[in-house]
Amino acid sequence: MITNEIASSRAIEAMEGQGAYNRHSSRQADRTAFAIPFLQQAARSIGPEPYDRPLMIADYGSSQGRNSLVPLNTAVAVLRERFGIERAICVAHTDLATNDFNTLFDILDNDPQSYLKNRPNVFASAIGRSFYQVVLPRSQVALGWSASAVHWLSRVPALVPGHFFYHAGTEPVRAAFAKQAAEDWRTFLSSRAQELRPTGRLVVVLPVLGEDGRHGIEPLLDVANASLAELTDCGAIAPSERADMVVPAYWRTRSELLAPFCDAGSFNGLVLERCEFFRVPDAAWASYRQHGEARRLASERATWFRTAFVPTLATALVPGRAEAHRRLFAGKLQAVLTRRLESTIFEITNNTAVIVFARQ
Ligand SMILES: C[S@@+](CC[C@H](N)C(=O)[O-])C[C@H]1O[C@@H](n2cnc3c(N)ncnc32)[C@H](O)[C@@H]1O
Repeated sequence: MITNEIASSRAIEAMEGQGAYNRHSSRQADRTAFAIPFLQQAARSIGPEPYDRPLMIADYGSSQGRNSLVPLNTAVAVLRERFGIERAICVAHTDLATNDFNTLFDILDNDPQSYLKNRPNVFASAIGRSFYQVVLPRSQVALGWSASAVHWLSRVPALVPGHFFYHAGTEPVRAAFAKQAAEDWRTFLSSRAQELRPTGRLVVVLPVLGEDGRHGIEPLLDVANASLAELTDCGAIAPSERADMVVPAYWRTRSELLAPFCDAGSFNGLVLERCEFFRVPDAAWASYRQHGEARRLASERATWFRTAFVPTLATALVPGRAEAHRRLFAGKLQAVLTRRLESTIFEITNNTAVIVFARQ
C-alpha cells in the first residue's frame, strides 16, 4: 500500500474526453431532472438586481456541457422573463483544467437545446480551475448550479486496499474519506459564498448516502473491482498499478451535508433553504425490462463506468506508459466489465440530494 502522502499527490482526472461523457451520461441527466424545479424556483427568488450589471450564472463541474443545457436553458428563460431581454446574462462553466472544453463550446454553439440558440445578449465562457477555491470575482454570481460534481473530492485521502472505492474500505479508510469530504464541503460552500451576490442562490444536486446507508451503485463498483482483479491476474496491469487505483469520491449523508449549518443556522453568509433526498430510478433497467437484452444493459452500464471513472483509475498506471496503453487499459476493462455484468443483472436506483442555499 502506498503512503497517504503519495495518495494525496495523485491527480484527479476529468471525465473521458472527445465528447464521450456527453454521449454516455444519461444517468446523471436523470438525476438532474429532479433538481430543475428547484433551479427554476431559485431563479425566481434572486434579486432585486441593480440595472447596470449583467446577471451571472455559474455552472460548477460542467464537464462537456450536454447535461447543463436543459437546466441552464430553464434558468435563462426565468431570468429573461423577470429582468427583460436588455439585461445581459453571462454563463460561466467551470471544471478541471483537463476537462474537454472543446466539446462544451461545440455543443453550446450547435446543440438545438443550447441556451445560446436564438438568444441575443446571452454570453458563455469557461474556467478551467478546481471549484475548491474561489474561481469567480467576489459578489458577482446571481445563480450557482452544480450537478453530480461535488461528490468528487479535492484529493485522494487514502488508498482502499482490495478495492478502488471507499465504501469497501476499512473503518480508518472510510474515516479518512469522511474527513476529507467534510473539509471539501466547507471549502466548496465558503468559496461559493464569496462569489454569490446578496440574495443569490446556489443549487447543488449530488449523489448521496440514503437513509438505508447505501448510495445504489455499489454492486456495479464491486463488479468493476472484480474486473480489475481479473486484469491483474492476466497481466494486463501490474499488481502495483492495481493497488494504486482509487476514485476520490464520497457519498455524504444528510447530517454530513447539513453539518456546516448546525451551529449558527448559516455558514459564511449562506443560508440553507431546502434539502431534499430522492431515489432516482434506473432508466436503463426500465428499458431492459422492455427489450430483455442483457448484453445491451451490460454494455450501457460498462460504458457509463468507463467515461466517469476510468480516466481517474488510469492515473495509477506507471508514469510514462504510452497513451496507447491507457486506451488499451480502458478498452480491456470495459470489455471484462461488460462480460461480467451480462451475467450479473441488477437494478441500480441511486440516492440523490438537491440542496438550495441563499446568500444573505
Ligand atoms: C459526473 S460529471 C458531472 C457533469 C455535469 N455537471 C452533469 O451533470 O452531467 C462531474 C464533473 O465534475 C468535475 N469535477 C470534479 N472535481 C472537480 C473540481 N475539483 N473542480 C471542478 N470540477 C470538478 C469533473 O471533472 C466532471 O466534469
